[in-house]
Amino acid sequence: SLFVPSVQELARQPITNIPPRYIRADDDGPIAVFDGASTPSVPVIDLQILLHEDPMNSELEKLHSACKEWGFFQIVNHGVSAFLLEKFKTEIGDFFKLPYEEKKKLWQQPDNHEGFGQLFVVSEEQKLDWSDIETLEAYSLEAENLAMTILTQMAKALGMKTEEMTQLFNDGGVQSMRMNYYPPCPEPDIAIGFTPHSDADALTILYQLNDTDGLQIRKDGKWVPVKPLENAFVVNIGDIMEIVSNGVYKSIEHRAIVNSAKERLSVATFYSSKLDSDLGPASSLISHKNPPVFRRMPLELYFKEFFARKLKGKSYLDFMKIENA
Ligand code: SIN
Ligand code: FE2
Repeated sequence: SLFVPSVQELARQPITNIPPRYIRADDDGPIAVFDGASTPSVPVIDLQILLHEDPMNSELEKLHSACKEWGFFQIVNHGVSAFLLEKFKTEIGDFFKLPYEEKKKLWQQPDNHEGFGQLFVVSEEQKLDWSDIETLEAYSLEAENLAMTILTQMAKALGMKTEEMTQLFNDGGVQSMRMNYYPPCPEPDIAIGFTPHSDADALTILYQLNDTDGLQIRKDGKWVPVKPLENAFVVNIGDIMEIVSNGVYKSIEHRAIVNSAKERLSVATFYSSKLDSDLGPASSLISHKNPPVFRRMPLELYFKEFFARKLKGKSYLDFMKIENA
């Protein structure tokens, strides 16, 4: 990463226009946003129902189709204590309220993903997102347990050997966390909070700290806003899971928009398989009838290539596809 200024500090200035580097042109032409009564809504999965040992459990079918059709769902009754979440929320809020002089000490150094700043900035000319981020290798046990529970259910729904899934993640699966702070923006229509992208990891759990809208996912050629639900996490399939599931589950493009009135905060926790594992379609899902549609490569190499690129859409996943599969 190259050095980038703090957008939080920028937003404190009495500006009515954003600096040119934050003005975005729609590379692919404008994409409409769903609104009104026809707006589809992201499926909601109840974890307690999902975990019932009921052979006719329709929640598992719901999970399966959410992962195939949407690549996204919200999870409720997730078992993470409301007390813990409240505390987490306060601490993150306080963290971003620290004076700039304090935060500056934690600013990202070149080629390091930890600290404040923005990832995926590979040139001085590149357009910037209207947000600051903070990355840390924090270990959140509750979120990790939840991720493992969801991954196990996904294996079940896919008809994949459970051990094959757990072997990918147990004892050495990678968890990382990113806190996003989106200050109010004087020109929200020409800026973007988070560039459209799909996640490179296997599974992402997003916690939205306030009820400010912002997250949108791409569905049927349009952007669908994801309404923050109280006491829910947004869960999404990343590129690794699309590959492991041999393309059955979809890693969907999403973005965050900003607004002129309110700040927005979110925390994304990313789960990836072990760095020393090979990335490729699960062998229990591959047969003569179901040939692999993605190639295999060491996971470490996959990440190395990923971080060297500018974040854009799903271009990286295309690179993993086997031609004519
Ligand atoms: C992202 O991590 O992709 C953006 C999440 C968000 O702030 O909604
Ligand atoms: Fe994302």
